[in-house]
Amino acid sequence: MTLPAHEMKRLRDVAGNDVELKALVGRRLAGTPLQYLEGTAAFGPLDLVVDQRVLIPRPETEQLWELAADLIAEPRRIVDLCTGSGALAIALSRSFPQAQVWGTDLSDEAIDVATLNGARYEARVEWCSGDLFAALPGELEGSIDLLVSNPPYVSDSEYADLPEDVRREPKMALVSGPTGLEVYERIAATLGTWLAPAGTFAFEIGETQADAVRRLFAAFSPEIRRDLAGRDRFVVGVKT
Ligand SMILES: C[S@@+](CC[C@H](N)C(=O)[O-])C[C@H]1O[C@@H](n2cnc3c(N)ncnc32)[C@H](O)[C@@H]1O
Repeated sequence: MTLPAHEMKRLRDVAGNDVELKALVGRRLAGTPLQYLEGTAAFGPLDLVVDQRVLIPRPETEQLWELAADLIAEPRRIVDLCTGSGALAIALSRSFPQAQVWGTDLSDEAIDVATLNGARYEARVEWCSGDLFAALPGELEGSIDLLVSNPPYVSDSEYADLPEDVRREPKMALVSGPTGLEVYERIAATLGTWLAPAGTFAFEIGETQADAVRRLFAAFSPEIRRDLAGRDRFVVGVKT
């Protein structure tokens, strides 16, 4: 088995010598994602540190950042639930330099990577470890102007069919539970108490989840938005 020329070029740029290159090629052929071998991943203008502790940010999530940044003119308080590498929180802190921004994750290891990336870009983001909203300081309740999230939304059965290199990413970053909707259900249960009046949200969703997610967030005038390939990949809504 050989690697495509563009991947070989990228690994040559990382390797210090032929022995290292051979080792990297071996790991890539065994399924390690290219970005883990390089140690970084592009997210819009950002070059984020990534390793096996975090999901590699995807192009769709860049679209979520752009979409969220257009939803509201001057958010004062922004939260990114399930921040992983910190991609959305850091990008939004740069889109809205006047806003206070929080990024949360259940994984302490992910928070370590997000903190590293935040420092790399001198981002003014508070990193909080914990389960969804429980990670946030209580005084934020009722005052979030913009909430974003790319939560785990793969079901247990879908996980088994994912490609080998995707399954090298943290399972807890991908799998939500038996249906794939569990994390949205938990977010929907308390979303109304955390958003400010007229607070808005934008979440990434799986392409088959639009109907279920529309029902879950029915109290927030939900709208489904499409990605560049025309797939239903985002839900946005507002607290009225
Ligand atoms: C799909 S990844 C998204 C990472 C990042 N936002 C991105 O788009 O690249 C989901 C993240 O949610 C975190 N996570 C899983 N369950 C969680 C929970 N109950 N509370 C907070 N974070 C959770 C995982 O550790 C992982 O970092």
